[in-house]
Amino acid sequence: MILVTGGAGFIGSNFVNHFLATHDDAVVNLDALTYAGNMDNFAGTDHGDRHVFIKGSIADFDRVSAILQRYRPEAIVNFAAESHVDRSINFSRDFIDTNIVGTYTLLEAARAYFATLDAAAQARFRFLHVSTDEVYGSLGPADPAFAETRRYEPNSPYSASKAASDHLVRAWHYTYGLPILTTNCSNNYGPFQFPEKLIPLMIRNALLGMPLPVYGDGQNVRDWLYVIDHCEAICRVLADGRTGETYNIGGNAEMANLDVVRTVCATLDRLRPRDHGTGHAELITFVTDRPGHDRRYAINAEKIRRELGWQPAETFATGLEKTVRWYLEHQDWVERATSGAYREWERLNYAERKTR
Ligand code: NAD
Ligand code: TYD
Repeated sequence: MILVTGGAGFIGSNFVNHFLATHDDAVVNLDALTYAGNMDNFAGTDHGDRHVFIKGSIADFDRVSAILQRYRPEAIVNFAAESHVDRSINFSRDFIDTNIVGTYTLLEAARAYFATLDAAAQARFRFLHVSTDEVYGSLGPADPAFAETRRYEPNSPYSASKAASDHLVRAWHYTYGLPILTTNCSNNYGPFQFPEKLIPLMIRNALLGMPLPVYGDGQNVRDWLYVIDHCEAICRVLADGRTGETYNIGGNAEMANLDVVRTVCATLDRLRPRDHGTGHAELITFVTDRPGHDRRYAINAEKIRRELGWQPAETFATGLEKTVRWYLEHQDWVERATSGAYREWERLNYAERKTR
């Protein structure tokens, strides 16, 4: 039995489904079901009683403690977070509450639970904290990719809150001996990603014939990691990672945003051509940049390759093909995910952005 937090979100739900398909263990899934949590992500799966879902917050110490005492997990995998940089610019408080105070509370509950375990169970127990490459700040075009030893230089309320959580996790290891593992990954993409993020947003807008809003000059660079590759990497770290260590996880796929959007358009042109013969790329619209927009992220994933033998199986081309096909086949999922409060966010984030 493992406890997964934030397991109804994009990466968390992919992880729960992947873990249950590849292991015999059960999963207790604690998720607050914010706008980003979606139980539709488990539709069509049949995990039976190996998947126990509990609606609740990692910031609720009593609730988390009761769950740990009842289910006695061998590991905690913490995905729960506010995860969208643009939202963190408007609503930073939510990021402090969940990413910092929530992680702190989860660590405290885990520490109390760990103290009740016998020596053999303590030796097995792991607390794996899922973090981001954004904690390392922004790279220039010729800088080497982020290694685990890179200093922390977060620039957004989101990345600052994740950096704070990483520091707490580290301290709970050094001070209290909690057997922690931290992973810092690059931009994920794949099935079940909420359409506020770049790739699913561009697919949805393109299919609706809406503008494809590229921030600034579109030359900001991200590394793209297919979500199932990420899930597999987490399984490897959980099984064989050295406690107290950090592992960077990347997709070997650095790309400028404009190239990502053009590739999405070209894939749609092939799989779902527009009626009037023009390509989806004509919808590309350059809009006002994000404040404090990091220029480049790149991951050096040599450590996890060397120590744990993990490498991404997908290239950006193969991962994107799977992703676009999934969104084309799951338009009902997109429609439901974007029917409510998302429209309000869309107005707030995009209506005021000037077209350049
Ligand atoms: P997401 O926003 O899709 O999902 C987050 C989930 O956490 C949601 O289901 C939400 O309901 C839940 N949640 C939020 N607050 C909670 C709380 N207080 N208690 C319990 N559950 C709560 O995010 P994601 O993209 O799946 O990201 C998962 C993790 O991976 C995050 O920690 C994020 O920082 C990290 N990460 C994501 C990416 C990416 O590209 N998506 C890249 C690097 C790191
Ligand atoms: P995003 O998916 O929000 O991830 P992150 O900011 O965590 O990297 O954005 C990825 C990149 O795409 C980022 O450089 C911002 C850019 N972007 C746009 O150009 N337009 C958009 O509408 C969005 C949401 C993002």
